[in-house]
Amino acid sequence: MTHPLIDSFKGAGQAQVFAYFDQLSPDEQRQLLEQAGEIDLAEIDRLSRTLLGKNAAEINLEGLAPAPYEKRPEHGGEADAWVKAKAAGEEALRAGRVAAFMVAGGQGTRLGYDGPKGTFPVTPVKRKPLFQVFAEKIRAAGLRYGQPLHWFIMTSHANHAATEAFFAEHGFFGLERGRVHFFRQRRMPAVNFEGRIMLESKSAIALSPDGHGGSLRALERSGSLDLMQREGIDTLSYFQVDNPLVRCVDPEFIGWHLMRRSDMSSKMVPKAYAEEKVGHFCVQSGKLVVVEYSDLPMAMQRETDAQGQLRYLAGSIAIHILDREFVRRMARSAGSGKAHSAGSLLRQGSGGQGGRAETNESAKSGEDVALPFHRADKKIPTIDASGRPVKPDRANGVKFEMFVFDALPFARNPVVIETRREDDFSPVKNAEGVDSPKTCRDDQLRQFGRWLTANGTGVATDATGLPALTLEVSPLFGYDEDSFAESWKKLSPKPVIHEGLYLE
Ligand code: UD1
Repeated sequence: MTHPLIDSFKGAGQAQVFAYFDQLSPDEQRQLLEQAGEIDLAEIDRLSRTLLGKNAAEINLEGLAPAPYEKRPEHGGEADAWVKAKAAGEEALRAGRVAAFMVAGGQGTRLGYDGPKGTFPVTPVKRKPLFQVFAEKIRAAGLRYGQPLHWFIMTSHANHAATEAFFAEHGFFGLERGRVHFFRQRRMPAVNFEGRIMLESKSAIALSPDGHGGSLRALERSGSLDLMQREGIDTLSYFQVDNPLVRCVDPEFIGWHLMRRSDMSSKMVPKAYAEEKVGHFCVQSGKLVVVEYSDLPMAMQRETDAQGQLRYLAGSIAIHILDREFVRRMARSAGSGKAHSAGSLLRQGSGGQGGRAETNESAKSGEDVALPFHRADKKIPTIDASGRPVKPDRANGVKFEMFVFDALPFARNPVVIETRREDDFSPVKNAEGVDSPKTCRDDQLRQFGRWLTANGTGVATDATGLPALTLEVSPLFGYDEDSFAESWKKLSPKPVIHEGLYLE
């Protein structure tokens, strides 16, 4: 059988993709051709050369230093500037310039949960799923600022239909249907260590999502950026599906971003301890970069300054603000398949499998804009020469992913602001231990307890601030300190704090 696509794969040394083509049913043939059509062969060739070769350089830490950040007032930051930032952010929200933007295309393998991660129940009393928590925060913020927000949600091929169905089933959690926008990220094929594209079965390529960095090109391709432009939205508030504590829109953060005329801004928290597994905000050659924990030598992670404080203190919690036209600029060049120069800036981090990232030397001088791909060595289910399924017990291939924070070095005037961890960050990543459903639930309880106490209703807690009772505050009652205080003030009579209390 000949087909122009099959010929181009043969020409690129990837004939194995169609090795079983003649044995497939017409439907299977169509599926395989469709999948093959998604692949940019020149891109795969470039990545194989730059990231798989023996010459792929190791991480370059030359000239790396901790990044400056805007300290919160209680840590010596200028209180006036924070007040101004908040006012500027509120104004932008009232003007309808801001949209919420969530990435939910990940595979959630660490949690061991089947189905879109956003459907995972997280709240202490009502067991609301992650999607509902965000939806209610977004709805409440829209009511508060008199401008319902648009919400852009990036899914993957694997979870797109299930995600849409979940929202439909739950009436979009009270949001206006027309303001919730789902779009799929692209996929990348896995390759073996020789750069050959791998098959998952005789009729399917081993494809996986292109990383949260793929969200920039997905926003462009899906027409989301144009829609935003038509709606007068120029500011995107980015967060990840795994973190129910996040303030989906935070006026202070939005304000800092706008006041500084920044292309992209980020939140940091002081690391809880030296070895905490988060990315680190750093500067290199005058550019803001995030260095994953697995890439920063332990000695540097533990380094302290004269006051005994960690030198690399600023941990990334994956919360950003993006300017719409900056996203467009990044997306257009990322999709162009332009060749990157070889070499490596930072190796990839998730799981610390010792992958590598391509770099673009000109990136640092700001001439060329394109997110680099990172390499992750993985166990990839595949087939053997006779077409039988193989479940490998060690890494047998490589996945390529882009990371959204790699856009920071390209951003004009990037700002990093400090936030309190307890106000913004308690992700559900692992089934047990750190960042698990249990730690996340406890952190939500601590937050509810703090809000009540701050408003004059003492709640008995242990030494870590964990209330003795299980209670829950609906985001529709209060989704941050201010909105909670407002609702609480209006509440009459005040409820007795009891086990299972739900404020809504
Ligand atoms: C990430 C950051 C880390 C940060 C931490 C905070 C990376 C490599 N590291 O780690 O610096 O400190 O979060 O929580 O990102 N996603 C997609 N599509 C994809 C891949 C991921 O939408 O192709 C989404 C997931 O649905 C999830 C988010 O991105 O919402 C995070 O992905 P994950 O791989 O879990 O990041 P972490 O390794 O936990």
